[in-house]
Amino acid sequence: CGIIGYAGSDPDTTENVLLDGLSSLEYRGYDSAGIAVANGMLDVYKRSGELSVLESTLDGKTVTGPVGIGHTRWSTHGPPTDENAHPHTGCSDRVAVVHNGIISNDESLKSTLTDAGHTFESDTDTETVPHLIERFLDRGYSPAESFRHAIKRLDGSYAIAAIFHDSDEIYATRRQSPLVVGLGADATYLASDVPAFIEHTDRVIYLEDRQVARLTPTDVVITDDDGERVDPAVDVVDWDPEDAGKSGYDHYMLKEIYEQPQAIRQSTRGRILELDGSVTLPDLPESIVEETDRVQFVACGSSYYATQYGAALLRERGIPTQTFVASDYDVERIPLESGTLVVGVTQSGETADTLGALRDANRAGATTLAVTNVVASSAARECDATVYIRAGPEISVAATKSFASQQATVAILASVLDGRRPNPFLGGLRDLPSDIQRVLDTSNAREIAAEIVDADAYFFIGRGYQWPVALEGALKMKEITYAHAEGFPAGELKHGPLALVTERTPVVALVTGSNEVVEKTVGNVREVESRGAPVVVVTDSPEDVAHLADFVLEVPETNPALVPVVTNVQLQLLAYWTAYELDRPIDKPRNLAKSVTVE
Ligand code: G6P
Repeated sequence: CGIIGYAGSDPDTTENVLLDGLSSLEYRGYDSAGIAVANGMLDVYKRSGELSVLESTLDGKTVTGPVGIGHTRWSTHGPPTDENAHPHTGCSDRVAVVHNGIISNDESLKSTLTDAGHTFESDTDTETVPHLIERFLDRGYSPAESFRHAIKRLDGSYAIAAIFHDSDEIYATRRQSPLVVGLGADATYLASDVPAFIEHTDRVIYLEDRQVARLTPTDVVITDDDGERVDPAVDVVDWDPEDAGKSGYDHYMLKEIYEQPQAIRQSTRGRILELDGSVTLPDLPESIVEETDRVQFVACGSSYYATQYGAALLRERGIPTQTFVASDYDVERIPLESGTLVVGVTQSGETADTLGALRDANRAGATTLAVTNVVASSAARECDATVYIRAGPEISVAATKSFASQQATVAILASVLDGRRPNPFLGGLRDLPSDIQRVLDTSNAREIAAEIVDADAYFFIGRGYQWPVALEGALKMKEITYAHAEGFPAGELKHGPLALVTERTPVVALVTGSNEVVEKTVGNVREVESRGAPVVVVTDSPEDVAHLADFVLEVPETNPALVPVVTNVQLQLLAYWTAYELDRPIDKPRNLAKSVTVE
C-alpha cells in the first residue's frame, strides 16, 4: 500500500498534491484509493478500483483544507471494496487514518472496542486504529496524546498517518514499514516513498521505527512514542523524478530482488509460532488440513517451478504430490482420488491456464486451494480456500519476490499438512530474511555477469530441491537476456545436454545439500569443466567446491530444505546483471506479459 500526506499553506492545492502523490505510489498497490481532507470537518472520498475511479468520483467536487492524507491500497485484509478502502474513520468522523502493513492484534482490539460500543464498517485491521484514537479523545486526551496512546497498543508492522477534523496537523508513525517526511518551503509532506512528493521537495527525513512525526504547514516535529523530542537527520535526495518510482534502482526488477527479505517477513508473519515450535496457516481451514491425503499442484511459469519445489518438500513428508503445468492439466485423464487437494499457485490469481485447471478440478468435485499474491483475485474467489503469499505488488514482468514468497508459503503449507512438532522448518523459515539479506549485501554476481555475458547459451544444473531452482534460474536468464538458457537435473547432463557444452556455454551449478548430493553434483561439475565450460558454482560449502569453479556465488548455510530460496537470489542477480550488461529492457522483456489472461 502507499501513503501520502500534505500539510500546506494553500488549502486549494491539497487535493492535487494528494492525487499526484497517489499516482506515483500506484506501483505499491492499485486495488482501491482514497483521500481525506480536514477543514473543520473531514471530507473523505474512497473507492475500490484504480486511482482513476477515485478521480472521476472527485470530478466537479471542491475538496479544500490545509491538511490531507491519501492511500492507495493493495488488499491484505478483506476484498477491495469501497468500505475497505482507506482512509478509515471512527464512529464520530473526528479522525481519519491511513495505514500500510498489518496490525496483528486487530481481532482482540476489535472485540474490546465492540464491547465498548464501537461499530465497524469494514473487514480491515486498519479500522481499529481510528476507533482506538477516538477512545482516547473521548477521555479528554489531545490529538497528539490520543495518537501516541493508540499506537502503543498495536502489534504488527505498519506505517500509519492520521488527521483530525479541527486541526492542521498530521500525526504519523512507523514500525518495519517505510515512511518518509518531506520538508518544503511552505508545506510539509509525508509518504511511503520519496517519489510521491519529489516534485515539491528533495529535503527528507526518514522516520525510524516507533518515532512519531507531527507535521504542520510550517514545521515538522519528531518525537519518540513517549513524546520525547528527537533531532532527526535531514537528507537531500538526488533522484531524477522520472526514475523515482524505482526508489533509486535502475529497474523495478532489481528493487523487487532487494525487497525479498521484507517480502519473506510478510509471508511468514503470524505463521511461525516460535513458542510452541509449530508453523500454522490461520487462513487454511482445519477441515481441509484433516481431509487432505494427497496434493495436485497446478501452475504456470515461475509459479510452476515453485510448485515443483513444494512437491519435493511434500513428498519428503510422506504426502503423495503431483505437479501439473496448468495448461496440460486434464482432469478427465488424471485420477482424482478422494482426499486430493488441488492447489493452484499463481502470483496474479488471474492466469487463464491456472484458472481453467482449478475450475476443472472444482467441477470434478476436488477441494481447491489458491496460493496467490492478489487479494480477491479470480483464483482467490473461485477456490474453496486461499492462502496469500503477501509479497506486495510486483511490477517487473519477471517474477522475483513473488517466487521467493511462493517458496516460503509452500514450505509452510508442507509443514502444516505434515503437522510435526517441533517443526523442522521453523528455524530455517525464521532465518530466511537475514540469509537473503546477506546474499544481497555480499553477492559478486555483477562481476561474474560481466565475465560470462558473451556466451552461446547458459546451462543450470541442480539436484533434489535445487532442480526447480535450476529451471527458474534458466527461465530468468532467458526472459530478460534473450540468451538461450536451460535448466537440467544435474544427473541428466550426461544423457544428452553434455553434447552442447563448450567453452562458450557457462554452466551454473547449484551445489548444496547432504554430502552425498554434493559429491554427485561435484562429479557433474567435473564433467563440464573437463569440456572447457566456464563453471559458476552456487554453494554453501565453498571450501569443498571452489577449486573446481571459475566463479563462486556463496550463500549462507541454512536448513537444506530452505537453502533453495536463498540460492535462487544469486541466480536472479546473475540474470539481472547479465541483462544489464546487454542493455535489455529488463522490466518489460519483448513478447512477455506479467499476467497472461488467455489460454
Ligand atoms: C507470465 C509471467 C511469469 C509468470 C507466469 C504465471 O508468464 O511472465 O513471470 O510466472 O505468467 O503467472 P502467475 O500470475 O499465475 O503466477
